[in-house]
Amino acid sequence: MNTAYSKLWLDYKPLNIAFAGSLAVRCTRRVRRGCTAVSELITALSALLPQAELTFGADSAVFIIELDLADYLSPEEYTISADERGAAVYGGSENGLLYGVFAYIREIIANGGFTRLSRRVRPAVPLRMLDHWDNADGSIERGYSGSSFFFKDGELLVGDRTVQYARLLASVGINAAAINNVNVRGKAVRLITGEYIPKLAALAEVFSKYGIKLFLSVDFSAPMSVGGLPSADPLDPAVGGWWRAKAAELFGAISGLGGFLVKADSEGQPGPYAYGRDHADGANMLARALKPYGGTVIWRAFVYNCSQDWRDTHTDRARAGYDTFAPLDGRFDDNVILQIKNGPMDFQVREPVHPLFGVMKHTGIAAEFQLAQEYTGQQLHVCCLIPMIKEILAFRTYNGSPDDTVLGAVRAIAAVSNTGDSFCWTGSELAAANLYGFGRLCFEPSLNAEDILEEWISLTFGDDEEVKEKLLYILLGSHKAYEDYTVPLGMGWMCKPNHHYGPDPWGYEFDRWGTYNRADREAVGIDRSGRGTGYSELYYPPLCDIYSSPASCPDELLLFFCRVPYSFTLKSGKTVIQHIYDSHFEGYEQACEFASLWESLKDKLPAEVFDNVKKRFAEQLRCAKEWRDIVNAFFHRLSGIEDEQHRKLY
Ligand code: GCU
Repeated sequence: MNTAYSKLWLDYKPLNIAFAGSLAVRCTRRVRRGCTAVSELITALSALLPQAELTFGADSAVFIIELDLADYLSPEEYTISADERGAAVYGGSENGLLYGVFAYIREIIANGGFTRLSRRVRPAVPLRMLDHWDNADGSIERGYSGSSFFFKDGELLVGDRTVQYARLLASVGINAAAINNVNVRGKAVRLITGEYIPKLAALAEVFSKYGIKLFLSVDFSAPMSVGGLPSADPLDPAVGGWWRAKAAELFGAISGLGGFLVKADSEGQPGPYAYGRDHADGANMLARALKPYGGTVIWRAFVYNCSQDWRDTHTDRARAGYDTFAPLDGRFDDNVILQIKNGPMDFQVREPVHPLFGVMKHTGIAAEFQLAQEYTGQQLHVCCLIPMIKEILAFRTYNGSPDDTVLGAVRAIAAVSNTGDSFCWTGSELAAANLYGFGRLCFEPSLNAEDILEEWISLTFGDDEEVKEKLLYILLGSHKAYEDYTVPLGMGWMCKPNHHYGPDPWGYEFDRWGTYNRADREAVGIDRSGRGTGYSELYYPPLCDIYSSPASCPDELLLFFCRVPYSFTLKSGKTVIQHIYDSHFEGYEQACEFASLWESLKDKLPAEVFDNVKKRFAEQLRCAKEWRDIVNAFFHRLSGIEDEQHRKLY
């Protein structure tokens, strides 16, 4: 494991102000002097104002920051009231206070000193979580930032880097982390055994100081793989008993354990189907084992047939999550959270919002995003996901609830983490914007993406206006550029199989994964209306009607929902084929512009940061050109239709 790491947005630099005199931190009786909020405040102040004399509780100080707990606040809520002479930060608990302290530090940095300020903030959803796909051997499934900092050769690691990780998460309001891959393999199966308990307890203790609950991905068949039972049938009393004893052992020894994350009956993982049981049977059995300890079972809705015959045009993978889980709505125990990927397929650059968000009205649900850029450039291409996540959270399902948005429906928001042991944590220095933005957005979804990114830029790179302006332009345009030069119009799945990097228009066409574009000489896309697979009918009106017809379907999702001839005219006025050509040329050009903007910042950025991204831009341009030329050639050869602008097609 790489032990050197950057502090990212917590790398406090001295403020450019002449603050003379003493600065006191005064804790009221209810706030422990040794609590994390106090120590984080001291760490920040001593770095920001190295010349100030820091004391505790002296009333005569020039500036006094008072920390208190307040019963009228919910546990994770905080208030800040401050002016040029002093500040009071209140939290509903020590965790709320910690969030308040981090928020106040951000404000001091943003304002270059102490200013008038009044805030009352409470997180929009109770569970804000990162899911790590780290394996016990230290590798990371879909990891693009080096190796795991949680595991090495089967061993669980707890050290300085873990503390820094917890600080980073808490500073943006993330309060839960599942540390191991949902595909529980190798030694990870044994993570819930006595072997790992001491280290897990130590890890959970670090997490707890920062208000973070520890979650473990578990093997549904653990009663067999570690318990030696002949079955893992959720309705078998011996199996339930085994999990109850397991929960007692784990929760008894690990304080701060949040519960389990489970991928069952999906892509080869074991689950209740083997015993003729359904997902509610499976999830509830585990939930009942965890219930006495306040534990939560996060059960994934990513269930589909991954052995489809590509000739079969009736089976539609997009329907699978809905068809499996909608009939189970109302049957899950209250400590089960059904975790639903943002779209019905698998983290493509553009998908419709998953229809389960509207229909699971009587089930605790979570939205799952993927910060690891599996299908969005693998942290070599810059692709900022924050505007997309914001848009999805604000998406209206029209399910009749008073707040019918995705945000209004969820109890938790989770993301597959993009971290690893690379120096800058996220492989690319720019990918840290996704980590930062995800946390900030989960806590305060009303913030706009631009403000969040601006905040990240100034905390990370300082206040230079040119740096800010150019980086903001790159980040905000990056997702569209990526979509344009890869798979526009909602097609998806034109990447190379297995590793999912680079173009291969038919790489997934004749395979078993349910991932087809069905492009031929005349037309492209899948008819998912009632005349086709019926997927669009899984949405409430007016969405089902909008999606079912090429005339009303939004351009960016057209080929996901509809099958149309290449000559079909989009709302933009272009034909489908011309849009495909244009977007590929334009997306590539846009990426070139980003790269040259970055180049122009050379003298304003630390050399390692500059080089880290420069190298990645070189790869992004190489790869974007491949995407452009291969996808354009593919459609040109199939359709025989010329580019109106007579650009070079191969
Ligand atoms: C994707 C990804 C897998 C992962 C799966 C999941 O299919 O490619 O590596 O295991 O999602 O979310 O479980």
